[in-house]
Amino acid sequence: MVSVTPAHAATATLTVDAGHTTTAVGPYQFGHIIEDINHSMEGGLNANVVRNSTMKEGNANPPSSWSLITGGGGSGGIAADTAGPLNAANQRALRLTVGTNGAGQRVGAANSGFYGIGVRPSTTYQVAFWARATAGFTGPLTVTIESTGGTVHATSSVSGLGTGWQKFTTTLTTGAGAPVSSANRFVVAANGVGAGQQVWLNVVQAIGPTFQPTGNLRRDLQQLMTDTNPGFFRVPGGNYLEGAVIANRFAWKNTIGPVEQRPGHQNDAWGYWSTDQFGLLNYLQMAEQAGAEPMLGVFAGYTLNGSVTPQNEMQQYVDEALDEIEYVTGGTGTTWGARRAADGHPAPFPLRYVEIGNEDWFDGTDSYNAYRYPMLYDAIKARYPQLQIIATRAVTSRPMDVIDDHYYNNDPDAFAALATRYDGADRNGPKVLVGEYGVTNGTSSNPTGTLSGALAEAAFMTGMVRNADLVIGGAYAPALTSVDNWQWSSNLIGFNAVSSFGSPSYYVQKMFGTGVGDHVVPTTLSGGTGLTQVATRTTGGAVYVTVVNRSASTVDTQVNVTGAASVGGTATVTTLTGDPNGRNSITSPTAIVPTTTTRGAGASFTHNFPANSVTVIQLSTTGGATPVLPVNQGVSLRVTTPGYTDRSLRHQSNLGVTSVIGTASSASDKLDASFVLRPGLASAACYSLESRNFPGQFLRHQAYRVKLAANDGSSLFAADATFCAADGNSGEGISLRSYNFPTRYLRHYNSEVWIAANGGTNAYDSATNWAADTTWRIGTPWFRSDVTIAAGFHSVRATTPGFTDRYVRHQSSLGVLSQISTTLDRQDATFDIVPGLADNTCYSFESRNFPGRYLRHNDYRIKLAASDGSAVFAADATFCAKAGVRFQSYNFPDLYLRHYATELWIASNGGARPSDNPANYVADTTWVVEAPLG
Ligand code: AHR
Repeated sequence: MVSVTPAHAATATLTVDAGHTTTAVGPYQFGHIIEDINHSMEGGLNANVVRNSTMKEGNANPPSSWSLITGGGGSGGIAADTAGPLNAANQRALRLTVGTNGAGQRVGAANSGFYGIGVRPSTTYQVAFWARATAGFTGPLTVTIESTGGTVHATSSVSGLGTGWQKFTTTLTTGAGAPVSSANRFVVAANGVGAGQQVWLNVVQAIGPTFQPTGNLRRDLQQLMTDTNPGFFRVPGGNYLEGAVIANRFAWKNTIGPVEQRPGHQNDAWGYWSTDQFGLLNYLQMAEQAGAEPMLGVFAGYTLNGSVTPQNEMQQYVDEALDEIEYVTGGTGTTWGARRAADGHPAPFPLRYVEIGNEDWFDGTDSYNAYRYPMLYDAIKARYPQLQIIATRAVTSRPMDVIDDHYYNNDPDAFAALATRYDGADRNGPKVLVGEYGVTNGTSSNPTGTLSGALAEAAFMTGMVRNADLVIGGAYAPALTSVDNWQWSSNLIGFNAVSSFGSPSYYVQKMFGTGVGDHVVPTTLSGGTGLTQVATRTTGGAVYVTVVNRSASTVDTQVNVTGAASVGGTATVTTLTGDPNGRNSITSPTAIVPTTTTRGAGASFTHNFPANSVTVIQLSTTGGATPVLPVNQGVSLRVTTPGYTDRSLRHQSNLGVTSVIGTASSASDKLDASFVLRPGLASAACYSLESRNFPGQFLRHQAYRVKLAANDGSSLFAADATFCAADGNSGEGISLRSYNFPTRYLRHYNSEVWIAANGGTNAYDSATNWAADTTWRIGTPWFRSDVTIAAGFHSVRATTPGFTDRYVRHQSSLGVLSQISTTLDRQDATFDIVPGLADNTCYSFESRNFPGRYLRHNDYRIKLAASDGSAVFAADATFCAKAGVRFQSYNFPDLYLRHYATELWIASNGGARPSDNPANYVADTTWVVEAPLG
């Protein structure tokens, strides 16, 4: 008998519970941010290959990117000319003066394109330009695309010029033998004609291959983006939306309609001229043609040079934004919807999210919170209540549906620490869009990143997907870059005039975007240092197991798939791996690309995850899945009914009700709106909600009304107090079905809470809003400490064996752990534990001997510092007390107060920093709160 011994024993075990789901994955989970940076649009996605089409760039004379070209002894000149302009929008033309130009000679204007002009065999360009000439010259003008050495790849001609401006169109098609090249030019010339005459040219376009007949989207670039299966396109920026000065913001009305009517503007966010030939409609078509939805950023009165629009001048931008939303979404009966139809797109675009501004945290004044956000928020919500508003920084003046977080870091290890950023993060605030992120480790010769950077991004993405209930989506930034001129070090897709390539980060985006289900399923990993994972499944039973191995070793992993009726015997495996320092480039575009294979699979198999890799294993399973909730943890239940989302379930006078609960609510209201989710009293497959402040009392129904009552131990109580989780009846969140009345769900009706049937005879069974009223968002408990610490002075002692005689203290303004002997030591190790500066249900540690100074974290290290009154300080100095006792960072909930050797940090269990070391993590983060030493 022959036995087969695996080459390595499995060192990790990954269990995938295909029979349960933790959250839905929304349609916007993966997207792109698109703005005109790095020539993304101008010279990139915009398929016009002629640079400085409107002769305005840099105000140069002769116009930049244009040069005189002569042949056979012909002579002439070119210059910029504002006399006899085409129109008010485009007043600067190129004047070609033809001198000597007999038979066999030529005089023309050549355009060098955007770092060349791309040529491929049998390729057609749609040429259009406006021209006029001195009396008597009618043409022809010969139009060519030719090598910089003069080899003609495509030629055509137009004639019929007159003294007035006319638009001419023609096509150019390269021959079957044309070389794939970019060292080419576009030429408009008089070949042997027009001696002594002048010709004026303006708005010159040569549109190369496009993705679809409409939109003018350069085919290869749009194809690459479409291939990532994006859900949204955040447009048009980014800094580009703002401009450095107001005049150079994205003034969308200047970017629509006939291109010759667009004045263009200096893209002073990124330092080059924009013709605005890639306008708002093109941004929308880009999303549409990729099968995605636009996520629209509207200008919000702040520009990159720090200028803030005064309140009394803001209304014009509010109106501009409302008109813009109407252009995007309005029917053809509306003013701006009609304009969109006239521009060639009668159908409205879908739009769910509007972002007010971009990175307004740079505005050092409070204007965003004080009036810029409120004015736009109020106006948009009043006219478009269905739209979700994205804030670019935290505001208190109005609600935030979503907040936009941005993360850039050139260190892959530090970036990978973001993988747990949203685990345990506050579910009671706004949802999160990670509108920009990326590892910025491009080089001065390659504006795209390494595989190691891509793997760090992949690790972060696993965390975003795992937390899809909170994180509506993320976009790597920026998406596109010219490899000939860029402003941002690291980008997703690189291109030159003729070709393009995806970076390793691009392939990570593609693997996630095309290998994801509609729900997250729970996974547990033991062993496997360096692995990060997430698993998702579709309703149909496809399960995607995504594993990132950032370590330098193969990790042989036992994969166990539980909870499925059956698991197919074959899996599809897509793997991206290679040299961690490797990158792709325009000359080596496929150095690091994924490979796809099949392998044997089943409910249990071993997979060897290669060093430095991301892997997506696609399994097929049968059997359904039900939602699973976090048992024995504190939760709040937020109402999801539109217009009532500031309400939470609470008990009041022993009745279940909903009321408005927010960060400013009293600690006792927060306590009443916090529950501990227990395994169901009648069935462990379901749940019971125990009051946070009255342990032993549970929500139960009685005559269909939901009440708070002490568990009397009866089976009737257990059944009445048990609810089974289902996907939210309204499509998001969770619904809780009564265990003993399975057609009835926990519902708020007005402000009362019942178990209600859809369309039953009782008022609270009303079918109106039934689905939304029975759908809840499971949030962080409003009362965020699980254990109560009595107010007053305390000392905090370590529990790690060998360190139990040491206390938390400050020393030279740093938090340290030390043995205590002197009086000064005792004072330094004594803190007044006060209600948290950022949240009264958590705690802050005020120094006994330096009142007004608090322990805070700063770059993860604990320090003693005077409060500066800022929200950041308050958050950094607030810790929530959890069972143990452990002190959870208020603003980084996956990090806990830890001693690492004798230094104090906030640390995660197994993150990138040395202080995240998993060895002794639990003991190092567990403390005894004692009587004060000093
Ligand atoms: O992604 C590049 C730039 O980074 C964006 O324009 C801006 O929002 C951020 O600062």
